[in-house]
Amino acid sequence: MQTDTTSKLSHTTLALHWIVGLTMIGMLALGIIMEEFDMKYLMPWHKSIGILIFAFVIARVLWRIKNGWPKPVNQYKSYEQLLSKLVHWVLIVSTVLMPLSGILMSYMGGNGLEMFGLELAGRNIDAATGEKVARNKALAGLAHSTHGIVPTVLYVAIALHVVGAFKHHIVDKDGTLKRMIGKKVDIK
Ligand code: HEM
Ligand code: HEM
Repeated sequence: MQTDTTSKLSHTTLALHWIVGLTMIGMLALGIIMEEFDMKYLMPWHKSIGILIFAFVIARVLWRIKNGWPKPVNQYKSYEQLLSKLVHWVLIVSTVLMPLSGILMSYMGGNGLEMFGLELAGRNIDAATGEKVARNKALAGLAHSTHGIVPTVLYVAIALHVVGAFKHHIVDKDGTLKRMIGKKVDIK
């Protein structure tokens, strides 16, 4: 399988970055719209897309472990490299935490898991009362808090990340953004 080089990123890195990145932005927007405008009928879509993207997130983490992080196209100041590393870590960890916490809060809260109509797990129903009961209330609560707090961190990290990408392109005029859209770039 093709791996990243400093002048060109692999198709795997490009595909996983854009599939996961753009879906995360869409899911954050969907989550907010759903909550703010009380549009709960969007929830099955939110959950289904979230469960599906989790598979891509896991593939991406495994790919990062196998392939390493892309090397910078240029020599940057040490604080810039540190900030970029920190933001990449926050982004990748958050892409794991959001779908994982969503799945855990639903499942541990006693709900089932369904992806586009396909039942992956049933609801946890008490045979005596016929009511839904939590599988693990504490874990469901922790996952719920995580699902509510991590987006705030993500908004800041995504803003820094996107501003950084365009700073590379417009101010530094280097190939960082071009490389992320599949172009081969010159290394200084
Ligand atoms: C791709 C990852 C995901 C992102 C970025 C995301 C994002 C969000 C956001 C921003 C909210 C609104 C939070 C608030 O205003 O308090 C939300 C709510 C919610 N999400 Fe997700 N979500 C993701 C995956 C999932 C998954 C996989 C599930 C379940 C299987 C899920 C279940 C829920 C539920 C039940 C709520 C409502 C929580 C409440 O009423 O307090 N999410 N999500
Ligand atoms: C329109 C929005 C976005 C643009 C223009 C963009 C651009 C870029 C660029 C140019 C790089 C390469 C940085 C380098 O070479 O050091 C990169 C890497 C990265 N981006 Fe984005 N990005 C966007 C959205 C996102 C989102 C929403 C996430 C996650 C939530 C994300 C996560 C990452 C990660 C983890 C890396 C490190 C390399 C990798 O794992 O693929 N990006 N991005």
